[in-house]
Amino acid sequence: MNKIRIGVIGCGNISGIYFENLTKLFLHTEVYACADRNRERAEAAAQAYGIPNVWSTEELLGSEEIQIVLNLTTPEGHFEICRQALLQGKHVYVEKPLSLTPQEGRKLVELARERGLMLGCAPDTFLGAGLQTCRKLIDDGFIGEPVAATAFMVCHGHESWHPAPAFYYQKGGGPMFDMGPYYLTALVSLLGPVRTVCGMARTSFAERTITSEPKFGERIQVEVPTHVAGTLEFASGPIATMITSFDVWDSTLPRIEIYGSRGTLIVPDPNTFGGPVLFKPAGGAEFKEIPLLFGYSDNSRGLGIADMAECVLRGGKPRASGELADHVLEIMQAFHTSSDTKRYAELETSCERPEPLAMGLMRGVLR
Ligand SMILES: NC(=O)c1ccc[n+]([C@@H]2O[C@H](COP(=O)([O-])OP(=O)(O)OC[C@H]3O[C@@H](n4cnc5c(N)ncnc54)[C@H](O)[C@@H]3O)[C@@H](O)[C@H]2O)c1
Repeated sequence: MNKIRIGVIGCGNISGIYFENLTKLFLHTEVYACADRNRERAEAAAQAYGIPNVWSTEELLGSEEIQIVLNLTTPEGHFEICRQALLQGKHVYVEKPLSLTPQEGRKLVELARERGLMLGCAPDTFLGAGLQTCRKLIDDGFIGEPVAATAFMVCHGHESWHPAPAFYYQKGGGPMFDMGPYYLTALVSLLGPVRTVCGMARTSFAERTITSEPKFGERIQVEVPTHVAGTLEFASGPIATMITSFDVWDSTLPRIEIYGSRGTLIVPDPNTFGGPVLFKPAGGAEFKEIPLLFGYSDNSRGLGIADMAECVLRGGKPRASGELADHVLEIMQAFHTSSDTKRYAELETSCERPEPLAMGLMRGVLR
């Protein structure tokens, strides 16, 4: 069985589930080396998951043996590590966000294109059983012509549980940049690219108090909007209403709903891989739960890079692509730009709708 050799840079919080799935679940991935500027973390990961090499970041980037670099560093490291990897002739897959700005994201997309390399980016939850089932229902015409959608991610921020939550309220943070990638990637996968964004944003509370340990009682000065609301016009016609907020204690709002000419689809939490998926046809009495039609309903993080590995082996275009991630980054930025300028933001980027998964795939394989 052909396996693609992956080198992981960044062995922090999120890396465990990648190591788990890339070493045990997917049939065409092999974690060949790992690196972290905190070497102990890389050594611990190597020991836990049987990874044969612990290297420095530079050694890993320069190695002839690595075919895909998996960049799991914190967002400020994404652009430069991805750029270096591409310059060294490696395909790259990076955790979200692709970069801190859409301009940087575009540079990576262009560099990858120039060099004939693949660039991919999380999230890959849209490849999970729940969102792929929604995609199939839409593509097969169950809801008729998509007309509109809603997407809501509202909560009261992360200072009640996260050990170091300040970054959520600083540049690059805020609810849209934190959670928007899941919601927007799901919407683009379901409805296609976005053409226009109209946004309004506010900072409802200038200061937040940490109530988690170990920083209990410390204050955070809020530098970014924490309630971001707006409207999206998709190139194919539908209009979506979206709110992301760290300023709301409680609500009964759904996560995502898609409204079609022949029915309504309730889409599961796009930050998960499973269901439930609910559908009610026009004139129907009640919403019915639709059985999931695809695999990967459990935590299958890594689907995106596993899909890329199969493209390296057999050709094809990775579904969780850099173009998709850069488009999503521009949409998120556009909510804020529209709010600042009090004008609609017309988007410069677009992307193809990622190809859906086939039904009945063997577990561990995506193509
Ligand atoms: N933690 C989560 O639940 C979660 C969920 C979704 C997405 N993400 C994304 O995953 C990425 C990583 O998040 P995390 O929570 O694992 O962060 P983390 O801080 O726990 O881990 C990041 C690791 O990268 C290492 N690192 C940073 N810069 C480096 C560099 N230049 N060279 C080598 N090593 C470097 C750090 O030492 C650290 O071990 C972020 O982009 C985040 O948005 C995290």
